[in-house]
Amino acid sequence: MSDHILIERAGETGAINVIRFNRPEKKNAITRDMYAAMAGALADGETDDNVRVHVILGTPGAFSSGNDMQDFMAVAMGASKGTEVFDFLIALATVKKPVVSGVDGLAIGIGTTIHMHCDMTFATPGSRFHTPFVDLALVPEAGSSLLAPAAMGHQKAFAMLAAGIPFSGEEAECAGLIFKTTSAEELEQMVFAAAEQLAAKPPKALAIARRLVKPDPEAIVARIREEGELFAAQLKSAEALTAFQAFMARKK
Ligand code: COA
Repeated sequence: MSDHILIERAGETGAINVIRFNRPEKKNAITRDMYAAMAGALADGETDDNVRVHVILGTPGAFSSGNDMQDFMAVAMGASKGTEVFDFLIALATVKKPVVSGVDGLAIGIGTTIHMHCDMTFATPGSRFHTPFVDLALVPEAGSSLLAPAAMGHQKAFAMLAAGIPFSGEEAECAGLIFKTTSAEELEQMVFAAAEQLAAKPPKALAIARRLVKPDPEAIVARIREEGELFAAQLKSAEALTAFQAFMARKK
C-alpha cells in the first residue's frame, strides 16, 4: 500500500469508504502505486456490505495535479507499461455504490476527469479544473470524451478537453461538471453530510437509481480502452516527450 493514499472508514456506522490523496509536496500527483492503492480501496469498499458510499478527497489547495510526470516519462521511454491507471479507472467506472468527491484548488488532468465518474462533487469556487491533454501532446482519457459531453454539452466539453481552457469551481458548477461550490471551511462538512445522507438511503434502490441516471458502464469502459490506445500512442510521440521534458526543465 502507498502512504500517499490514506484509506479509512468514516461516518457513524463506518459506512463511508474514504480515499484521500496524501502527497501534498507534489500537489498530489498520482503514481502507479497510488492508482493501485485506490483501485484496491474501491474494490474493498464494493465488497464490504457495511460500506454504502465512497468518498474521494485531496488536501487543502490541491485535489491532484494529475498523473505523475516522471511516470509519464517512464511509460513514454518504454520503461514501464503503467497498467495500474486502467485498473483504477475500470474500478471507478464500474462501482455500484455512489461516489462523492471534494476539491479545493488544483484538479489537473485525471484530477479533473475522476469527477466525471463521481455522483456528487463539491468544490471551492476558486478551484482550478484543467485538462491540458492536447498541450502535452496527449488526448482525453478516463472516459472523459464520453462523460464530459454528456454532462456539459459539446462546446464546454471541447473547451475543457480539446482547447485545454481551465474552469474555476464556479464555472465547473455552471457547466454541470460538479454539483456545488462551497467554502474551503465547509468543504469536507458538505462532502460528509452528502455521503451520510446517501448512506442512510435504501442501498438497492439507490444503486438502481444511480445506474439509471448514468451512462452505461460498459460503454464507459469501452471508451476508456479506446482512449487508452490513442493515449498510449501519443505518450510515446516525440511531441509528448518534448512537452514532458519542458515540464521537468522548467524554471520556477
Ligand atoms: N507530476 C510530478 N510532479 C508534479 C506534478 C506532476 N503532475 N505536478 C506537480 N509536481 C511537483 C513539482 O515538480 C514540484 O516538485 P519539486 O518541489 O520537487 O520541484 C511540486 O510538485 C510542486 O509543484 P510546483 O510546480 O512547484 O507548484 P505550482 O503551484 O507552481 O504549480 C502545477 C502546480 C500543478 C500547476 C504545476 O506543477 C503543473 O503544471 N504540474 C503538471 C500538471 C500536469 O500537467 N499534469 C498532467 C496532466 S495530463
